[in-house]
Amino acid sequence: MPRFYLTTPIYYVNGDPHLGHAYTSIAADVIARFRRLDGDEVFFLTGTDEHGQKVEKAAQAAGLAPQAFADQVSARFRRMSEVLNISHDDFIRTTEPRHLRACAELWQRAQANGAIYLGHYEGWYSVRDEAFYGADEIETLADGTRLARESRAPVEWVREPSWFFRLSAYQDKLLAFHEANPDFLAPTARRNELLSFLKSGLTDLSISRASFRWGVPVPNDPGHVMYVWFDALTNYLTATGWPDPAAPRAGFWPADLHLVGKEIARFHALYWPAFLMAADLPLPRRVFSHGWWTVEGEKMSKSAGNGLDPTELVETYGRDALRYFILREVPFGNDGDFRHEAIVTRMDRELANDLGNLAQRTLSLVARNLNGTRPAPGPRTDDDAALLAQAASLPAELRGAIDRQALAEALEQIWKLIRAANAYIDHQAPWALKKANPTRMENVLRVLLDLLHTIGVTLTPFMPDAMAKLLDQLAVPETARSLAALASPLAGGVILPAPAGIFPRFAARLDARAPAC
Ligand code: MSP
Repeated sequence: MPRFYLTTPIYYVNGDPHLGHAYTSIAADVIARFRRLDGDEVFFLTGTDEHGQKVEKAAQAAGLAPQAFADQVSARFRRMSEVLNISHDDFIRTTEPRHLRACAELWQRAQANGAIYLGHYEGWYSVRDEAFYGADEIETLADGTRLARESRAPVEWVREPSWFFRLSAYQDKLLAFHEANPDFLAPTARRNELLSFLKSGLTDLSISRASFRWGVPVPNDPGHVMYVWFDALTNYLTATGWPDPAAPRAGFWPADLHLVGKEIARFHALYWPAFLMAADLPLPRRVFSHGWWTVEGEKMSKSAGNGLDPTELVETYGRDALRYFILREVPFGNDGDFRHEAIVTRMDRELANDLGNLAQRTLSLVARNLNGTRPAPGPRTDDDAALLAQAASLPAELRGAIDRQALAEALEQIWKLIRAANAYIDHQAPWALKKANPTRMENVLRVLLDLLHTIGVTLTPFMPDAMAKLLDQLAVPETARSLAALASPLAGGVILPAPAGIFPRFAARLDARAPAC
């Protein structure tokens, strides 16, 4: 069975989950579910990033010890996963003993290979970004405040002894690697940015801090903790059981896909491969970096108080509608703007009208005119054959799109079939055939049931709850809910359950939630 290992970034526990975190997790979940549906053995990892100065400061502000604070916030991220129906196989926390062990091992291997040395760091550091910046990346405002130009995060001057990673020594190897693997980092715009950064010259990276304690201890130097990114990136190895070669998931390394936001592409596509090269370990196969969401045109931020809470979004729109919307609204890789009006429009037009009505019309005709029984396949007209051929080619098209992480494109391919099915039902008008040509009516409804089978299965990764309901109503057995099973016809003569709506309109959803009086 082919294996597929994919990861979300591990989320900082300095603040509560918001739409941005939900986005990365949902996208990864759709890919994980799609690969399982296609027969892969999937290992899907998510978790929390719990060390570093940023978390230490947030804990102080909350009046808690860092570990107690991390426990609390990590549990909220776990809860976010449940609320969003994320099907991860492991949830890693960087404060776990298994992780401390892996970090120490990676460090020691890199050190033994001469890639780590002791020095002195003096330069700009942003706690918010947990990143070091060169003088050319800093901007001074009129009031004297200094910011990292790109992220607008405040920076401070840091001067302390530090262990360094010999990043400069990996410049040529990294460049050769990226040139030999043009698909390693996507989308292309981000790859180009990274290549120009790489070509501008790399300086060695400070990978330990001596001025605070909340981190993984540096082996044999108790005065230092590891730089949080050295620690954080290692989580992807830890979860496979590394360095134990006999660990049950040892065979999953190297990861097939790291899904990350655009602001952390550099850490995943430069630093991470360099750390792995230094320890003689295989490199991940691909990093895909997605864009950022704004909310009603505004940047999400703590100070603006507009960081949308995933739980509230699910309560308002339903989790499948939320999952659908954020992957449908913008091509994956681009930035997006979350607008209430836009999600309501898509819920009503695409989910309730296009898909909900197609299912409802078909199922109620089967209930009314065929005693609720799925007919056996009959002779096909050219129209039937063309539409069924379109459905048959969908899995391969989707595979192509999902392999490129083109999630919105995958949804559009499925919607093409939904629109074609709606045009077909309008044109064939099976409701008018009951008296004139009942056999033809039966055949048309059978074609529609087959299309709905394909639609229900292929949309399952995006909307698992709603599609389980649809497939139940179509009486599709569990064994026929995979991409491979779409090639075999469902048995005729099976009685379907009574039809029930799958996607209520947004207004109806709100009515259903209002307390009864
Ligand atoms: N802890 C690091 C990742 C370490 S991975 C070895 C981190 N954590 S984070 O909590 O700040 O962000 C995690 C993810 O959330 C990133 O992929 C980031 O892009 C995503 N988002 C945070 N805000 C976002 C938006 N406003 N919009 C879309 N995604 C954004 O970075």
